[in-house]
Amino acid sequence: MDHGLISARDVTRQFRIGRRQIDVLRGVSLEIQRGEKVFLCGPSGAGKTTLMYTLAGLERPTSGEVLINGKSLYRGGRKEISRTRNQMMGYVFQNFLLMPELSALENVLLPAFIGRDDRLEQAKDILERVGMGHRLHHLPSELSGGEQQRVAIARALVNEPAILFADEPTGNLDSKAGAEVMELLTHLVSEKGTTLVVVTHDEGLTHLGDRVLHLVDGQISADAAPTAGVL
Ligand SMILES: Nc1ncnc2c1ncn2[C@@H]1O[C@H](COP(=O)(O)OP(=O)(O)OP(=O)(O)O)[C@@H](O)[C@H]1O
Ligand SMILES: [Mg+2]
Repeated sequence: MDHGLISARDVTRQFRIGRRQIDVLRGVSLEIQRGEKVFLCGPSGAGKTTLMYTLAGLERPTSGEVLINGKSLYRGGRKEISRTRNQMMGYVFQNFLLMPELSALENVLLPAFIGRDDRLEQAKDILERVGMGHRLHHLPSELSGGEQQRVAIARALVNEPAILFADEPTGNLDSKAGAEVMELLTHLVSEKGTTLVVVTHDEGLTHLGDRVLHLVDGQISADAAPTAGVL
């Protein structure tokens, strides 16, 4: 069967708080092709982070299925999910999440070290490519927000993942630094043919992607595709 790299089939996610149940994802189905750059937009609380985490192997859906390369992501045990994450996925978060006591270079070396053998050259090379070659030995606290995010992007890409997930990567940056970071991110993934799923509030940056998905009330609203009844 022909399938995308990432497929979601009727994914739902509910949270229970006391007796209340919140339906955050209400039957999301989508298909993301290899090498596609997809922006996920929608109002605050729409479920963007929840959906991204579900696609990324970080949160199990209540029902429905996520397929990576045609293989069910959550059907395997924890070990198998974590293997898929380590081998195929990279992550960038809004608040950078760098290890504060490690230098830029050490932060990027960490996943490289966990992933495979010594990757010092790759770590230096990717830091060079994100424009941080002159800050290798700085601690996160000695870097600006935009610079920290560049290090986080380098860290996410050092193992050359097939898929990069980014949740509001520009959310803590001013608009100039944000645009630069998003341009860098989309440029780097285009170079390697990496699939990108990025959550953003900033509709002004979505032209950098191939497709925008709008999440409204826990469902993907019809995007650019024509719908029945519309001439
Ligand atoms: N662990 C949780 N327990 C209970 N409710 C949760 C949990 N995580 C998320 N929610 C609820 O699910 C809804 C969607 O949250 P989510 O973080 O996915 O939204 P979002 O679209 O990413 O919003 P934002 O743009 O503000 O980041 C919210 O109403 C939130 O309160
Ligand atoms: Mg969010």
